[in-house]
Amino acid sequence: MKKVIIINGSPREGGNSDAIAELAAKELKARGVQAEVFRIREHEIKNCIGCDTCKTTDKCVHEDDVPELVKKATEYDGVLFVSPIYFGAAPGPFKTLVDRFYVLFNPNKAPTKPCEKRKCGVVLTYGNMPDAEAEKAARLFGLCGSVAGLGSSMTVLCGRAREKEAFANNPANQEKVKELTDWIVE
Ligand SMILES: Cc1cc2nc3c(=O)[nH]c(=O)nc-3n(C[C@H](O)[C@H](O)[C@H](O)COP(=O)(O)O)c2cc1C
Repeated sequence: MKKVIIINGSPREGGNSDAIAELAAKELKARGVQAEVFRIREHEIKNCIGCDTCKTTDKCVHEDDVPELVKKATEYDGVLFVSPIYFGAAPGPFKTLVDRFYVLFNPNKAPTKPCEKRKCGVVLTYGNMPDAEAEKAARLFGLCGSVAGLGSSMTVLCGRAREKEAFANNPANQEKVKELTDWIVE
């Protein structure tokens, strides 16, 4: 059975990212995938302190909810990042989580070759900023996916979504998320 972890970075409960993550989980499960949602706001995620201990031990000094998540991100068939855009970038708590993926990057070792079959999906929700600007925010997650060994990536942009119910009321964006789940299980 394929396994996918959906990382939902929204600090807001019941908004667009929650609706996107729920729809993606439902669609993946309907295709026989084991889909889990990790809501950042429900977890303890400490800041990377740049101590570089992980460069000699391959282990982070922090004991919180991140090491288990990072392990899943390196082992599962797919990771789906779902996030709002705050001031042109990922919300602070999501960036904090991404920084912790530094444990997988070691300049003293040959990088792990990303596996083409392992998929990295990115879904971003935002207000009225131009899509081209939102694309720039997606790069962070692509980079995070590649250090986790995910070799293929696809981004879905769900803009014009300032209101909490925007995604729930937008069948075209829902269709794009369903297409993304099709691509993940391909
Ligand atoms: C602190 C903050 C900053 C935001 N910055 C932007 C922005 O730079 N560009 C944009 O188009 N929308 C911005 N928005 C709107 C959100 O991205 C949008 O409402 C999104 O759909 C929220 O997702 P959620 O419902 O999952 O929380 C911002 C919202 C907040 C609360």
